[in-house]
Amino acid sequence: MENYPAKRIISPEIRTEDFEMEGNLRPRRLSEYIGQQKVKETIEIFIQAARERGESLDHVLLYGPPGLGKTTLANIIAGEMGVNIRVTSGPAIERPGDLAAILTNLGAGDVLFIDEIHRLSRPVEEILYPAMEDYAIDIIIGKGPGARSIRLDLPRFTMIGATTRAGMITSPLRDRFGVISRLDYYCVEDLTTIITRAASILDVKIDPEGAREIGRRARGTPRVANRLLKRVRDYAQVRHGGAINKRVAVEALEFFEVDPLGLDEIDRRLLRIIIEKFGGGPVGLDTVAAAVGEEADTVEDVYEPYLMQKGLLARTSRGRVVTGAAYQHLGIAYAGKSGGPEQGSLPLP
Ligand code: ADE
Repeated sequence: MENYPAKRIISPEIRTEDFEMEGNLRPRRLSEYIGQQKVKETIEIFIQAARERGESLDHVLLYGPPGLGKTTLANIIAGEMGVNIRVTSGPAIERPGDLAAILTNLGAGDVLFIDEIHRLSRPVEEILYPAMEDYAIDIIIGKGPGARSIRLDLPRFTMIGATTRAGMITSPLRDRFGVISRLDYYCVEDLTTIITRAASILDVKIDPEGAREIGRRARGTPRVANRLLKRVRDYAQVRHGGAINKRVAVEALEFFEVDPLGLDEIDRRLLRIIIEKFGGGPVGLDTVAAAVGEEADTVEDVYEPYLMQKGLLARTSRGRVVTGAAYQHLGIAYAGKSGGPEQGSLPLP
């Protein structure tokens, strides 16, 4: 999915440059995994219980914004269970036969990881129901009146689904997951620890305040944190002889136009457009998307979640509303607003 500007340093979606880096930096064991305490403990319990009973792990659904480590967790789960993992994604499985081929090649206990599982087509999804529930698939042989269905048994595997859109998972699919865990944005402390760990793996000299400054601007996302670390490392090497401290980090991040809240030019433009063109809102998603020149899905999945988490933007029943905190952050006065920008709009549940 590359429908946002490719140069956006803080985009949470995976990019080619991340692969090499994530390969080295990615924690391999649960004990190395920082943050997401609740998810970690939940998974720890289920893994230990399944291992002690000599069973495969129940199916797991991981959901939450991009870049928070859903793929990493799936790999860790497979590693902890001592099984193989097969990685694919919803859009990559085009026909039911593609999924049938993957399923029949799994070994006992193996993990099948399907990223963006909300993007499976309906016929493919229907193959998954008996596969997850009964460890079997029904294959149609032949065509027309002579066609018959045969049932193929599958090994007991563990399905791990990941999605940024839990609301778009159909209920028959959601019901087949035994464990459903939500990943949340990381706090600055955890990101600081992740950056310190990554810097040590990459052999980058960084002091605690330097790591914290990058953590503060990493929009709650380890993938962004690691990417910023890499860019700040380049800047520090060329302008300051290599070591990263707070002053160097601030200077580098200002140079890359990532502000103290982790917003980049596009985030600020989105907020400014709502303020300047729509009086702070409420304004509909499609209108916002058209005004910033992005797809509505991208605005909704990539930009808005972080802006909402920071309390800069609210989704209301009547549309998007910029909050007082956003005016303050952008240094814009509340000119002519009676009662503040949220008046008359009900927050959505
Ligand atoms: N790198 C990326 N995400 C991480 C995490 N949650 N813990 C440790 N290192 C990471």
